[in-house]
Amino acid sequence: MVSTEAFVCSFSENNLPQNAVFTWKSPSNIALVKYWGKTEPQIPKNASISFTLNNCNTVTTVSFEQKEPSENQNIEILFERKPAPSFLPKIRQFIDRILPYSPYLNYYHLKISTENTFPHSSGIASSASGMAALAMCFMSLEKQMNLDISDDYFYQKASFLARLGSGSAARSIKGNLVVWGEHPQIPKSSNLYGIEFPFQVHSNFKDYQDTILLVDKGEKQVSSTVGHNLMHAHPFADNRFKQANQNLSVLSQVLQNGDLSEFIRIVESEALSLHAMMMTSNPYFILMKTNTLQIIEKIWEFRKSTNTHICFTLDAGANVHVLYPFKEKKKVKSFILKELVPFCQKNQYICDRLGQGSELML
Ligand code: DP6
Repeated sequence: MVSTEAFVCSFSENNLPQNAVFTWKSPSNIALVKYWGKTEPQIPKNASISFTLNNCNTVTTVSFEQKEPSENQNIEILFERKPAPSFLPKIRQFIDRILPYSPYLNYYHLKISTENTFPHSSGIASSASGMAALAMCFMSLEKQMNLDISDDYFYQKASFLARLGSGSAARSIKGNLVVWGEHPQIPKSSNLYGIEFPFQVHSNFKDYQDTILLVDKGEKQVSSTVGHNLMHAHPFADNRFKQANQNLSVLSQVLQNGDLSEFIRIVESEALSLHAMMMTSNPYFILMKTNTLQIIEKIWEFRKSTNTHICFTLDAGANVHVLYPFKEKKKVKSFILKELVPFCQKNQYICDRLGQGSELML
């Protein structure tokens, strides 16, 4: 088992480049088995698995400029080319957390310029793609100082660092199915970083589609931090963590044997279980909107009457991810446009599909 010590970078001050600039594009991901509940430091209470997306990305450039370690670190942040000081506390906290593993960061002032390829206030989580893209930029600097590090280590440590920024970011480094969290039936799975799903995936899941219906584009009603915390004193928490691990056992088989009906059963049940946990916490929350439920009902009717394999999943919010196989795209897409998009805020939706993971741009 890999331990946290494996991720401590030792370096020589003589090897530090004076300046460096890297740009990475990192995708968002959608969990099929959900991560909801954690302990310090960002250790999940159960294993989770996600589809890496292709079109919802954060593109981040980090410019490093050398400084004395004793000198205060300047961090300048631009979001969509405009100063964004409100991002600073989260990024400082992230850097403080990863400094024991990447101490070279203390030798640099940072200029971070970031933007999303999806609308900012769309309710799509940008913390996963955002933290992943930052972690990739930091790892590129580490690689420049130490050319010997292997690709495996490079991506594993990137996921390890990203996790310390946001748990789900651990699953935004690689494509296209990523497991994060130790699980007895997934070899080499770890609580510390995400791994690519280690088995052959059935062709039914090749190029799987995800149309994201933007039902509510507002600020998240419950932040992830608050939501995860509510799991601590939750009366059903232990059973929920067991259920998630069992669902991952079944889903692992399903992804290999291509059983789409079983896929739908697990994925929809996971989404509803996540929301059920929020409805039964203290305080309690309903994160769906009326239109979320209308969409779910429409999906169920359509599936029944057409025998297609359309299904839904949800994040901790009101938006709906509509999942379906590539070969049903034509039929499902016209249903979505006609019957589901009218339930979206300003008719907005995003067409996405399985993606390959983070990509170096510069
Ligand atoms: C509902 O990764 O946003 O999307 O670790 O506190 O940053 P932090 O939480 P975050 O939680 C994601 C929760 C989820 C389910 C999932 O992606 O697995």
